[in-house]
Amino acid sequence: MSGPNPIRRVCVVGSGGREHALAVVLGRTADVVVTPGNPGIAGGTAEGHIITCVHTPAEQIEADLYVIGPEAPLVDGLADRLRAAGHLVFGPGADGARLEGSKAFMKEVLAEAGVPTARFGVFSDPATATAYLRTLPAPWVIKTDGLAAGKGVLVTGSLDDAEADIAAKLSGDAFGDAGRRVVIEEGLTGPECSLLVLCDGQRLAPLAPAQDFKRLGDADQGPNTGGMGAYSPVPLVDAAMVDRLVDEAVAPLVGTLRARGIDYRGVLYAGVMLTPDGPKVLEFNVRFGDPEAQVVLPRLDGDLAGLLAEVADGSLRTEPRFLPDAAVCVVLASDGYPEAPRTGDVISGVGDAGSLEGVTVFHAGTADTDTDGVGTLVTSGGRVLGVTALAGTIGAARRRAYRGVSAISWPGMQSRSDIALAAAGVAP
Ligand code: AMP
Ligand code: GLY
Repeated sequence: MSGPNPIRRVCVVGSGGREHALAVVLGRTADVVVTPGNPGIAGGTAEGHIITCVHTPAEQIEADLYVIGPEAPLVDGLADRLRAAGHLVFGPGADGARLEGSKAFMKEVLAEAGVPTARFGVFSDPATATAYLRTLPAPWVIKTDGLAAGKGVLVTGSLDDAEADIAAKLSGDAFGDAGRRVVIEEGLTGPECSLLVLCDGQRLAPLAPAQDFKRLGDADQGPNTGGMGAYSPVPLVDAAMVDRLVDEAVAPLVGTLRARGIDYRGVLYAGVMLTPDGPKVLEFNVRFGDPEAQVVLPRLDGDLAGLLAEVADGSLRTEPRFLPDAAVCVVLASDGYPEAPRTGDVISGVGDAGSLEGVTVFHAGTADTDTDGVGTLVTSGGRVLGVTALAGTIGAARRRAYRGVSAISWPGMQSRSDIALAAAGVAP
């Protein structure tokens, strides 16, 4: 096994906080070109590497390694097209990406692999769906089959709301075609964690666990979002639990994918609930979690470009290692997120926050507008910024992150005040 050639230039596809974090950490050892990127990404690195953003399609960019950030281009077969052109690509082909593109397919594969997961049914007819719903105890869980940017899941204790949600999804009104099939699941309880595991088609290498905060409001109130904050490491998920999750959830999945002829090269993101009956998989995603990437990647102790190249090449042999420091990320979201994010609000304080010790501000939904020759940073999406801080303990990282948060403002800015609060209490 000779391994990949040295990686001098990496192309990253995407424009969010995850891609900003990827660019910064890849930029420790390589030049990085991000398509299309965002206003926070471009610049030089302390190591002398250059990070640029371009609007050129990835197929037209020359690089030694291609890292595809979001699920949509993966589901759409971008990795297949780049591989067909002879490139080294981190990210599954359309066959593997179907795990995230269809929750019904994912649940079917999990059942075949014997991975512990919630009981479920798949429906496209409202009457049959409602009949199944009524056989389950509360809380009720209804998911769009197709991609819905992390917003297609309703968990509710109200049977009326559950039935209305089924009708709205199946009619196509709520999520278009993505909702015309739904997965209805048994409701599980317990703390959640995100385990990102690198897979070179066969070999697996877990990254440090993270915990995400899916609900919009403090104390897990309000609607589900793409994620309002994260931290890593997770005191609840020790090395033995990571091994157990790899053995019980990820390895059987990869075995089943291989049996189906799927050569999965990228990251498998297991969303796990630690239930009283043991860990159960809520979902697999086919990309780095966001904001999880913003706390896991900065903790990596080593050469991310080389590591991802080994995965892409099918020659994974480096064991990822992590700094002992903890990382906490607080997401700042726009007014109206998640239902109807308002764009165009002027953002202030990003420079001040980024100059605080240990703090990095990752951009997710920002745009530069030019008013009379003066560049102004404005909101351009739902999740706008991720304020990430590193420090010796979760509590110290959390204090630093919130110091960064208080430096930033725009009209209607939303954030949670309790990211990593419980973990800071129990961590050493
Ligand atoms: P998913 O996109 O499938 O991970 O679902 C988004 C969020 O909904 C998860 O992070 C959980 O908080 C919640 N959720 C999903 N499935 C279930 C379930 N079966 N029981 C309870 N909560 C769930
Ligand atoms: N943080 C949730 C996700 O990336 O899907």
